[in-house]
Amino acid sequence: MKVGILSGGGDAPGINAVIRAVVRKGIRNYGYELVGIRDGWQGLIEGNFISLDLEAISGLLSRGGSILGTSRTNPFKHERGIQKILKNVEQKSLSGVVVIGGEDTLGVAYKLYEKGLPCVGVPKTIDNDLAGTDYTFGFNTAVHIATETLDRLHTTAEAHHRVMILEVMGRYTGWIALEAGIAGGASIILIPEKPFDIDEVCGYIKQRQNRGKIFSLIIVAEGARPKGCTEIRYSSGVDEFGHPRLGGVGYYIGKEIEKRMDIETRVVVLGHLQRGGSPTAFDRILATRYGIAAIDLVHKGQFGHMVALQGNKIVSVQLKDVVKKRKTVDLRLYERAKVFFG
Ligand code: F6P
Repeated sequence: MKVGILSGGGDAPGINAVIRAVVRKGIRNYGYELVGIRDGWQGLIEGNFISLDLEAISGLLSRGGSILGTSRTNPFKHERGIQKILKNVEQKSLSGVVVIGGEDTLGVAYKLYEKGLPCVGVPKTIDNDLAGTDYTFGFNTAVHIATETLDRLHTTAEAHHRVMILEVMGRYTGWIALEAGIAGGASIILIPEKPFDIDEVCGYIKQRQNRGKIFSLIIVAEGARPKGCTEIRYSSGVDEFGHPRLGGVGYYIGKEIEKRMDIETRVVVLGHLQRGGSPTAFDRILATRYGIAAIDLVHKGQFGHMVALQGNKIVSVQLKDVVKKRKTVDLRLYERAKVFFG
């Protein structure tokens, strides 16, 4: 039996660890032939395949990126994209496809499952915004990198008596900002789920100054926005799933603080540094558990499902329940974090 595997959307540390686990268990336990699909849905539209044997997965556990490549291709936006995919799956005799992706890639997987594609999902994204699972793999690594960055900014902010602003990714959710902000002791955390008031932000900085702390660390999620405004975009235009490129809120906040207060600010946009490179041990283990569970689902013929982490257990959830809503930040945790603001 032949099983395909693809990774779509933005890369996340741990994709290769998932591929390694799927291939290893698929070959060793089930005697499957594993087929890699290049560049997400693009490779399935074009019929761009590579063979994945045990040699191909050697040394993958700690490697960032994706050996298969990835793309933000939405086959529903391509002429005859869906027919081409279904034809290529049939011609290649794939009995199942493991789809590693976030909300866009898995949204397509669900629609294709409804059209007859036997597929299972693996939750991947540094944003941690997928419903049905406590954690997506890649998130822990991003939080770790953002926390380490905050630690480094802390010392230079303190030495120069400045406000340092760290802008992190996360798209429409503030998971990375919240968790790294707590771990890195940020003086203020700003997330998309709670539009901010710049005067309140300045109030926290003043509060710190009043108790002799003449520096502050702000962590802001790229999707955070001032009250009554839309999110700040880096450029016009959207991808094939309709998402704009976010970015710039850190600079906006920096300028507004300097207008209102006599304090120097500096802005660091962490960008793709939080997505590249090796996964943490947590993400390597989670990705490995996900990969093993995904090939088990294929073996059981449990298509239309995604593997997930709930508590400390790997479970499976229906793709239809995953794609209908975005998992936003737990606002109770945000409220608790506020005790450290200012
Ligand atoms: O979804 C993952 C993510 O890293 C978001 O946090 C971010 O907004 C986006 O992808 C960036 O995408 P790109 O790699 O296309 O710049």
